Amino acid sequence: MTTPRPETLARLTPVLTKRWLSPDAWQIGTYEKLDGYAALRKALKAHPDDLIQLVKDSGLRGRGGAGFPAGLKWGFIPQGDGKPHYLVVNADEGEPGTCKDLPLMTHDPHSLIEGVIIGSYAIRASRAYIYIRGEAVHAARRLRNAVQEAYAKGYLGRNILGSGFDLDLVVHSGAGAYICGEETALLDSLEGFRGQPRLRPPFPATHGLYASPTVVNNVGTIASVPYIVLGGAEWWKTMGTEKSSGPMIYSLSGRIANPGQYECSMGVTLRELLELAGGMQPGHNLRFWTPGGSSTPLLTAEHLDVPLDFEGVAGAGSILGTTATQIFSDQDCPVYATYRWLEFYHHESCGKCTPCREGNYWMVRVYRRILAGQGTHEDLDTLLDTCDNILGRSFCGLGDGATSSVTSSLTYFKQDYLDYIEGRTAPKLSDKQLVGAH
Ligand SMILES: Cc1cc2nc3c(=O)[nH]c(=O)nc-3n(C[C@H](O)[C@H](O)[C@H](O)COP(=O)(O)O)c2cc1C
Ligand code: SF4
Repeated sequence: MTTPRPETLARLTPVLTKRWLSPDAWQIGTYEKLDGYAALRKALKAHPDDLIQLVKDSGLRGRGGAGFPAGLKWGFIPQGDGKPHYLVVNADEGEPGTCKDLPLMTHDPHSLIEGVIIGSYAIRASRAYIYIRGEAVHAARRLRNAVQEAYAKGYLGRNILGSGFDLDLVVHSGAGAYICGEETALLDSLEGFRGQPRLRPPFPATHGLYASPTVVNNVGTIASVPYIVLGGAEWWKTMGTEKSSGPMIYSLSGRIANPGQYECSMGVTLRELLELAGGMQPGHNLRFWTPGGSSTPLLTAEHLDVPLDFEGVAGAGSILGTTATQIFSDQDCPVYATYRWLEFYHHESCGKCTPCREGNYWMVRVYRRILAGQGTHEDLDTLLDTCDNILGRSFCGLGDGATSSVTSSLTYFKQDYLDYIEGRTAPKLSDKQLVGAH
C-alpha cells in the first residue's frame, strides 16, 4: 500500500463529508454544534428568488449524473401559478458502483434535510419528498429519525423558525428498481404507479408530481445547498474547475487498497485518487475503469491524468456520471465485466420500449455465447449493430447507458473478444449457463 504525498492529500476537500467522522454525526445535537441549520436561518431571511440566483451564481451542477445546472432548474418553476410546487430528492442510487448518497444520508442526514428546506423555500414548495431505494433500510431509518428530530425542533412543519414558511417532508421507500432512479419513472412510482419513464415534454418543471411544478434533484445536489448559502457562491467556485464548480464525492471500488468515498475538488485525476486510496491492491495493475458508474464508457490506464470533471471526462470520450470509479486490473476480463453489467441492464429494463427491452436481451445471449467459447466473428458486428439500434433510439437513458461498456470495451479490448472466439482464452461460462438466457 502506498502512502499519499502531502500535495496529494491536499487534494481532499471535505465539505459534504466533513462531519462524517464526528461521533453520532447523524444526530441533530451534533449537527447543530457543527454549523447545522445555520444556513437555514440565513436563508429564511433572504428572498426566495435571491436563493435561486445564489445557486445559479455558484455554478452548482446536478450530482445525479447529467450535471444539469441546479439554479437553472429551480428557476424553471413557474411562480404565482396557483398550483402546489414539489421538491423531490432522488435518493434511489441504483447505478452500479455508485456509493455516495447512501453514506451521506447515513452519516449526515440533517445536511440533506436542511438543503431540502432551503430548496423548498426557494421554489415555494410546501411539500417535499425523499425517494429512497427500498433496500437501503438502514439509511431510510436514519433519515426518518432525523426528519422526526427536525420536526421536534421546529425546522419542519408549520411556521418554520417563525418565518411563516410551512413545509412537510415525507421519506418514501421505493421497491428497489433501477429505472425508478430515472426522474419521471420516480415520479410515477411516487404517485403509486408502476415506475416507467414518462414522455417529455412536458417536463417535471411544469408537469411533475401530480401534474404540478416539481424539481427533482439528487441527494448530493441538495445537500450542497446549505454550504453554498453559508459560504457564498464565490467560495464554492474556489473549488473545482471553471464549468464544474465545487467538491464532489468520488466513490472508489474494485482492485484498490482502500475503497471508499473521497471528496475532492472536481477535476482531480484518477492518478491522484488512486494515490489517496493507497494504490492498487498488491499484484494488480490498472487495466480499465469506469469514471462514473457502469453506464459510462470504460477508460484505461492511458486516462490516468484526465481531469474528472464534466468537460474533462467528456473530452476523453466518456461521461462523469455519478463519479463511481470502479477499478479493474490486469487480472479482470473486460468481456466478462461487460457481460455482468449487461445482465443487470437486461434485468432492469422496464420493457416500455423495444430497442432496450429486446436489444439487451439479445446482447446477453451473444455475450453468453462468446464467453462459452462458441462465439463467432460476426457476433462482434451484431453487438455493435445492436448498440447502434439502442443508443439514441431508446425511450430513456437506461438503454443508452447499457451500450457504454459494450462499445468502449470493443474499442479498447477487441483482442480479448477475439481470444475467446479463436480459442486462446478458456471459456468462462459452461454450456449449461449458455442456455440460461430467459
Ligand atoms: C436509468 C436511470 C437511473 C437513474 N438513477 C438515478 C439515481 O439513482 N439518482 C439520481 O439522482 N439520478 C438518477 N438518474 C438521473 C435522474 O433522471 C435525474 O437526472 C437526476 O435525479 C436529476 O438530479 P440532479 O439534477 O440533481 O442531478 C437516473 C437516470 C436514469 C436514466
Ligand atoms: S430505455 Fe429501457 S428502461 Fe428506458 S423506457 Fe425503454 S425499456 Fe424502459
